[in-house]
Amino acid sequence: MLQSPISHLLLHLLLHLSFLISPSFSQSFIYNGFKNSAYSTNLTLNGIAEINDDGILRLTDVRSRLIGRGFYPDPIRFKNPETNTSLSFSTSFAFAVVPKYRKLGGHGLAFTIAPTKELVGALPSRYLGLVNYSRNGNSSNHLFAVEFDTVQDLEFADIDDNHVGVNINRMRSVNSTRAGFFVDGDSTKYDICLHGGNKIQAWIDYDGAESQLNVTLSLHSKKPSKPILSIPVDLSPVFQDFMYVGFSASTGLVASSHYIFGWSFNMTGNAKSLNLRHLPSLPPFKKNQRGFVIWLSVSIFLAFFFIAITGAVYVFKQIKHIDVVEDWELDVGPQKYSYKELKESTKGFHEKELLGFGGSGKVYKGVLPKLDTQIAVKRILKESKHGQKEFMSEISTIGRLRHRNLVQLLGWCRRKGEFLLVYDFMSNGSLDKYIFNNPKTILTWKQRFKIINDVSNGLLYLHELWEQTVLHRDIKSANVLLDSELNGRLGDFGLAKLYDHGSHPTTTKVVGTLGYLAPELTRTGKPTTSSDVFAFGALLLEVVCGRRPIEPKALPEELILVDWVFDKWREGGLLEVVDSRLKGEFDKTEVMMVLKLGLMCSHDEPTFRPSMRHVVRCLQGEVPLPDILAPTLSVKGGFVMGFGDFAASLKKANTWSIGYREGDVDLEAGSGSPKLGSVQDGWLHKSKMDDKHHL
Ligand SMILES: *[C@@H]1O[C@H](CO)[C@@H](O)[C@H](O)[C@H]1NC(C)=O
Ligand SMILES: *[C@@H]1O[C@H](CO)[C@@H](O)[C@H](O)[C@H]1NC(C)=O
Ligand SMILES: *[C@@H]1O[C@H](CO)[C@@H](O)[C@H](O)[C@H]1NC(C)=O
Ligand SMILES: *[C@@H]1O[C@H](CO)[C@@H](O)[C@H](O)[C@H]1NC(C)=O
Ligand SMILES: *[C@@H]1O[C@H](CO)[C@@H](O)[C@H](O)[C@H]1NC(C)=O
Ligand SMILES: *[C@@H]1O[C@H](CO)[C@@H](O)[C@H](O)[C@H]1NC(C)=O
Ligand SMILES: *[C@@H]1O[C@H](CO)[C@@H](O)[C@H](O)[C@H]1NC(C)=O
Repeated sequence: MLQSPISHLLLHLLLHLSFLISPSFSQSFIYNGFKNSAYSTNLTLNGIAEINDDGILRLTDVRSRLIGRGFYPDPIRFKNPETNTSLSFSTSFAFAVVPKYRKLGGHGLAFTIAPTKELVGALPSRYLGLVNYSRNGNSSNHLFAVEFDTVQDLEFADIDDNHVGVNINRMRSVNSTRAGFFVDGDSTKYDICLHGGNKIQAWIDYDGAESQLNVTLSLHSKKPSKPILSIPVDLSPVFQDFMYVGFSASTGLVASSHYIFGWSFNMTGNAKSLNLRHLPSLPPFKKNQRGFVIWLSVSIFLAFFFIAITGAVYVFKQIKHIDVVEDWELDVGPQKYSYKELKESTKGFHEKELLGFGGSGKVYKGVLPKLDTQIAVKRILKESKHGQKEFMSEISTIGRLRHRNLVQLLGWCRRKGEFLLVYDFMSNGSLDKYIFNNPKTILTWKQRFKIINDVSNGLLYLHELWEQTVLHRDIKSANVLLDSELNGRLGDFGLAKLYDHGSHPTTTKVVGTLGYLAPELTRTGKPTTSSDVFAFGALLLEVVCGRRPIEPKALPEELILVDWVFDKWREGGLLEVVDSRLKGEFDKTEVMMVLKLGLMCSHDEPTFRPSMRHVVRCLQGEVPLPDILAPTLSVKGGFVMGFGDFAASLKKANTWSIGYREGDVDLEAGSGSPKLGSVQDGWLHKSKMDDKHHL
């Protein structure tokens, strides 16, 4: 009887200690390489992760938009059951990120603590395989991650394209810092390039009692005493009792391979640092071999030049189906597909798979059987005069742009005299199909307003948020695509050109589509962000009014949309222009705002047009609509000149020629190429062609 309380106590103690000694819940482990060894269990891999012959955990390879993860197989207790607070942990691992193209880093990787090893539904690319769009930020994710990110994603407020960030339940970091390290006794922070292919050791230490998290980096085995990130953060609400620890990495359009060489983890003390020299190494880069290869190629080339060149030329002429590879192609980001693959995926570019005409080419629907993903393949016609220039501009531009309101370029292919671009498939097609020519589905005002907002965000990104100003140059409803959730995404960057911020764009070629071309474009020939804003204004008006900017079938006073809307606004009957198919079901304030914004953007004088930043702020209700319409009210012609002036300048100038290409109007300065009838004929002709496409 006397022993009973003691044994009871002992039992109690034992029960509470059991989680410490229970063999199924490991407290610490160390992997010096992941080759199966006696004392370490195998990791659980998912996605495309694998352990290679050298014992290196390769989370991803350079294929686009895939996820790879490696997790410790058993759950680990992360909470003290007595106090319901987070326990301390400490981990160290060695990793490397090797981009496919040296200049362009793909996405990074994340040390992850999560309730499951699978993270079902998570997305690749900027989501790093951790969450998806709808789960991002939900506190029921119970997700803790330290991201080693090599892409600056403005959506997640990333500070740069080479940072370490602490993420809790969401992709937006609670705190982050540029990747680097300190040397003991020196307060200077030295940069580390995360995607430089170097073996980098990271330490993540969390003190549960102090609620302090430290992240330390180094290129060496010894841990520097000063962390690069040391922040207060309470992980008690984040952690569940048992969690899984591991790594998640993903690739985007531009891919990087992610490697983990070794990993130690400890719940009861500091994790042992890894000795980088004892870990397996990546196969050496072929940097040094490169000169040799060039030398060898040159020698061989010279040696065989006289005998082989004639034959080679002959042979190349015979082989029409060969994919052409040139030097510049190796530097371009997105994935290269083989012609055969794309031909098969589109059933041999079958008419039935034709989605429409965009820019200078036909667009086909395809399915990549390997990944079971739907794609859109744009095939740029051989006749296209500016094919090569457009193609190069298109891949180098969109390949590096990432925004959820832009259509993603997945890859490309080049064949003799022919270019193919592979895009994300947008299951709901282009916006014009929903507003012109008796559409089957009528978009509600809410949907339209959302799409307008989406497009304005996409355009703002192009104009101001990316590292360089990107002009779209062909904004119109046919180039706004709708994904499965009816999000608006800007597509067709064939006409986009890059300009560094601040430098003056110079070009003599006017590209775009009639009805969306800013009047000054025909005078100066220089596209600017204001000319994009002008086209965006036309888009705003047509989305609200449900008709084209120039509608030959309309009454004469309604022929030119912007003039008609302007007249109605002056008469005080602005709401009369709203698409009658909405049956009056819309938010009047929003509609009025969008129409007025549309008018402001369509202003004849570029300096009176708002910037996209301003437009976005107005649309989101952050700033009220400025009253700049009022002063121009009295100046008849301010808006009305718009297209009239444009048409007159077209009629006057013989040097402008109009060429037709699949529904687009392409104006080219100074060339004497075929002229087609009058401008009025041009409009009629164009609309007929469009009708045909939409039937
Ligand atoms: C680890 O994987 C190897 C093969 O990769 C297998 O032979 C071995 O049984 C596995 N060990 C455990 C503990 O699962
Ligand atoms: C997001 O992920 C959750 C699971 O985490 C899944 O149930 C959901 O379907 C996913 N949503 C999308 C849009 O993929
Ligand atoms: C978070 O997820 C839970 C369940 O998964 C869901 O019920 C809840 O609505 C989500 N919260 C938000 C804000 O999306
Ligand atoms: C984090 O770093 C600070 C400053 O170097 C140090 O005082 C603290 O003990 C560290 N905490 C952990 C959990 O390593
Ligand atoms: C990140 O942490 C540092 C150090 O605690 C702090 O000074 C800084 O304000 C934090 N930044 C953010 C965005 O929370
Ligand atoms: C433990 O703490 C979490 C959040 O910190 C809370 O949601 C949960 O209900 C608590 N559990 C118990 C048993 O108190
Ligand atoms: C974990 O920490 C304890 C206490 O410092 C130490 O004895 C043990 O070796 C560590 N284990 C690993 C794998 O680092």
